[in-house]
Amino acid sequence: MKPYLVLLPLVLLLAATTAAAAENCLAGGCHAKIASFKHPHQPARGGCLSCHLQKIKEHPRQQGKSFELSGKGSALCATCHDAIGKKKIVHPPVKEGDCTSCHNPHGGNGKYLTEADEDQKELCFGCHDAAPFKKAHVHGPVAEGACTACHDPHESNQKRLMKGEVKELCLKCHEDFAKGMREAARVHGPVKDAPCTSCHDPHSSVNPSLLKEKMPDLCIGCHKEIGKRIKGAKLMHKPLTDAKGCSNCHSTHFSAAKGLMAGDQRSICLGCHGGKPLGNPPLREVAKEFGKGKKLHGPLKEGKCDGCHDPHASDYRRLLLGNYPTSFYAPYREGGYDLCLRCHDKNMLRYPDTTVYTKFRNGDRNLHYVHVANRIKGRSCLACHETHGSDGDKLINPEGAHFGQWQVKTRLKLTANGGSCAPGCHWAYRYDRVNPVNYAKPEAAPAKSDAKPGAKPGPAK
Ligand code: HEC
Ligand code: HEC
Ligand code: HEC
Ligand code: HEC
Ligand code: HEC
Ligand code: HEC
Ligand code: HEC
Ligand code: HEC
Ligand code: HEC
Ligand code: HEC
Ligand code: HEC
Ligand code: HEC
Ligand code: HEC
Repeated sequence: MKPYLVLLPLVLLLAATTAAAAENCLAGGCHAKIASFKHPHQPARGGCLSCHLQKIKEHPRQQGKSFELSGKGSALCATCHDAIGKKKIVHPPVKEGDCTSCHNPHGGNGKYLTEADEDQKELCFGCHDAAPFKKAHVHGPVAEGACTACHDPHESNQKRLMKGEVKELCLKCHEDFAKGMREAARVHGPVKDAPCTSCHDPHSSVNPSLLKEKMPDLCIGCHKEIGKRIKGAKLMHKPLTDAKGCSNCHSTHFSAAKGLMAGDQRSICLGCHGGKPLGNPPLREVAKEFGKGKKLHGPLKEGKCDGCHDPHASDYRRLLLGNYPTSFYAPYREGGYDLCLRCHDKNMLRYPDTTVYTKFRNGDRNLHYVHVANRIKGRSCLACHETHGSDGDKLINPEGAHFGQWQVKTRLKLTANGGSCAPGCHWAYRYDRVNPVNYAKPEAAPAKSDAKPGAKPGPAK
């Protein structure tokens, strides 16, 4: 039972016996201010003497006071209220017994013997510097002055006078986050294990979303590797440093997708690259290359872009993960096709003869080797293949690659054991893995620029 309830009969008795006196105090108009509060402190309605003891009969007096308080500081209040100050952290003014620095002992125009009902800001700003609460973006409850939604004004077992564990407090209001964290497949490390305040200022911030630091500094403070890459790489992906920064693609709290992606990669990338081409000079309209009816490259069938592009930064053009030539001619050499060889076996380009490394062969003769490894006029993959998707089989580009102003059509036709091409480079040639075509016969003369049939060069490096 609260002490004041035990004391209540006594208070009432006191009030009854002193009612006349109190009426006198108030009725005379001398202490009219005390009677004018919207919410008078209950004992002050009549029981002036529960707190003020008359020391000297003469009242009012010219000099000195006729009344003294019946207790000092918080001791006075503790005669009726639970004693405050037993918890680990006690707010300094409470510790000092200075209850009246916040409460008017007679009454208030707001609740709790203070001046405002909800908005406690000004009360707190009486002692605390207001600047940290007034930056450009202010947290809802702080703007309203609901400081005690999070803080206990008197004491707490949590540091910073928090009313509870910080994350739980946040999640009490932010119920959608609580739900998301319970239900999502993945929760970001610090969101799960650290307080929300590791990224957010609970009061106000110069950054949107109450972020403690601007994007992407906030994220690379922990993700140092990515930070280093962004700063060190030749090419940085532009959205990383715009206002949304990392959260252009990542869901910073929780996500259903791997890598905390805000959705599947393809939709996220096409969210920006799916409309009008970006940049100056503009990039290609790649969305068309992934569009309906296209035969997609393996990784793109799974909607993945990061098998070839580093979404953050790269030393290679177009954010690629390795070398990939831009020109029609680029003879194979170690490192030259690293991008493709991340996933495809480089032996495909190294051996003049093979029965396993490629299906592009005539008998055992490796036609990838013939075309790409040719030291003088090796053709790059792009002479025949597209990278994202194609209207033709085997990612062959039916429109053909650019050869100066001209486009070299490949005209690939596949058969059960091989196929034929009739590109702008040479006349129609067949290749057959089971019954090799004999190019020595006039109707099947070899391409003049390429190695002679029968001449067997050693493997490339
Ligand atoms: C709950 C305790 C309490 C009650 C009841 C109470 N007072 Fe006070 N009163 C105080 C305290 C504490 C102070 C000193 C305030 C300070 O130092 O800020 C005070 C100060 C005063 C003062 C001097 C300063 C001022 O605010 O003008 C007067 C006059 C006064 N009280 C009159 C009254 C009258 C009249 C009543 C009854 C209607 C009354 N009090 C009831 C606690 C009380
Ligand atoms: C004589 C007994 C008594 C004393 C002494 C006393 N109070 Fe109270 N106080 C009460 C009662 C009775 C209530 C009304 C309780 C309720 O509504 O639950 C009350 C209510 C309050 C409230 C809540 C007001 C509201 O609007 O809900 C505050 C704050 C308060 N007192 C502060 C103080 C402070 C500060 C002191 C010391 C300066 C003090 N009290 C001294 C009896 C006392
Ligand atoms: C820093 C300002 C501050 C100081 C100092 C302070 N209080 Fe309070 N007190 C408040 C505020 C603000 C509320 C309203 C709490 C809320 O909104 O939940 C309150 C509420 C109360 C209440 C009513 C609600 C409750 O918690 O029971 C009582 C009683 C009370 N205070 C008594 C005291 C006493 C006694 C002291 C001195 C020992 C004291 N206060 C010192 C700010 C203060
Ligand atoms: C949404 C909850 C919330 C609200 C509302 C809130 N605070 Fe805080 N406050 C916190 C948290 C959390 C911390 C601890 C920050 C930390 O540890 O980094 C804190 C810390 C503080 C501190 C300690 C100094 C500091 O900045 O670390 C003061 C003083 C403070 N708050 C005052 C206030 C005042 C005044 C208000 C109302 C204008 C208020 N707070 C509103 C959550 C809140
Ligand atoms: C009478 C002066 C005074 C008032 C009014 C006051 N405070 Fe304080 N408060 C202090 C002092 C002094 C400290 C200790 C120094 C510091 O941290 O600034 C403090 C510290 C704090 C702390 C940090 C406690 C910790 O563990 O480090 C919080 C949180 C806080 N106050 C919140 C509030 C809130 C909320 C209000 C308004 C309801 C408020 N204060 C009103 C004087 C006051
Ligand atoms: C008392 C309820 C309450 C508590 C507790 C609370 N918030 Fe909020 N928060 C709100 C409200 C209301 C908004 C504004 C919502 C809106 O505008 O849609 C908000 C907005 C936010 C925003 C978005 C701000 C912006 O400018 O877009 C962030 C970030 C945020 N809160 C973080 C936190 C963190 C971190 C905590 C715990 C320290 C917390 N909140 C505790 C009520 C609360
Ligand atoms: C790793 C840093 C980080 C942590 C930890 C973190 N947030 Fe955030 N939060 C962000 C970023 C970045 C944004 C803004 C971009 C976004 O919405 O993803 C944000 C935005 C928000 C918003 C505004 C969302 C909106 O749609 O307007 C709220 C509310 C929020 N966070 C609440 C929380 C809560 C509650 C916690 C703790 C459970 C928390 N945050 C922990 C980084 C973080
Ligand atoms: C307080 C440190 C911290 C901050 C700040 C931080 N992170 Fe994290 N992040 C982590 C930790 C810890 C992990 C979990 C590491 C792990 O599981 O490998 C993680 C994991 C991730 C992952 C998932 C990695 C994976 O392989 O699934 C992504 C994506 C991520 N963070 C992005 C961000 C973004 C975007 C931001 C800025 C809004 C950010 N992080 C801010 C600490 C942080
Ligand atoms: C353009 C979209 C995009 C942006 C912007 C972006 N990321 Fe990523 N991020 C990705 C993709 C895609 C992955 C691979 C996800 C997967 O595993 O499926 C990834 C993976 C990650 C990973 C885990 C794997 C790794 O590389 O370590 C972390 C951590 C990460 N990102 C952090 C960040 C940070 C920090 C920022 C801001 C500096 C950022 N990201 C900005 C798209 C992006
Ligand atoms: C198999 C590797 C690979 C995959 C997977 C891949 N790309 Fe590419 N992408 C490339 C290569 C190689 C280039 C540069 C040469 C070219 O344009 O063919 C490129 C170029 C681009 C360009 C620049 C176009 C221009 O104008 O040069 C964009 C934008 C692009 N890709 C977006 C994507 C997106 C979005 C995804 C996932 C949906 C994706 N890529 C998946 C290999 C790939
Ligand atoms: C928030 C928008 C946005 C998202 C999401 C986005 N990008 Fe970009 N991307 C850009 C912008 C802007 C550029 C730079 C255009 C310019 O100015 O050159 C760019 C450039 C590129 C380039 C060409 C880089 C160069 O300069 O050579 C590639 C490749 C690319 N993005 C791939 C991707 C991939 C893959 C994804 C998904 C993981 C993705 N983008 C997601 C906005 C975006
Ligand atoms: C991230 C891994 C990856 C990278 C990098 C990659 N590919 Fe592929 N590629 C695949 C997968 C997976 C397949 C499908 C294999 C299958 O279906 O058996 C494939 C299939 C192909 C095919 C056959 C298409 C078909 O329809 O059968 C060609 C041609 C091809 N890739 C060319 C390239 C070229 C050129 C590059 C370099 C620009 C490249 N690839 C880079 C993974 C990759
Ligand atoms: C002269 C045209 C041409 C060039 C240049 C070329 N390819 Fe091919 N490639 C083909 C043809 C035709 C096929 C289809 C063979 C079949 O299935 O009959 C093919 C098939 C493939 C395949 C499917 C698996 C296989 O080997 O059968 C991959 C992977 C591939 N090429 C990768 C590459 C890479 C990587 C490069 C560049 C280093 C490249 N190609 C250069 C014509 C070419």
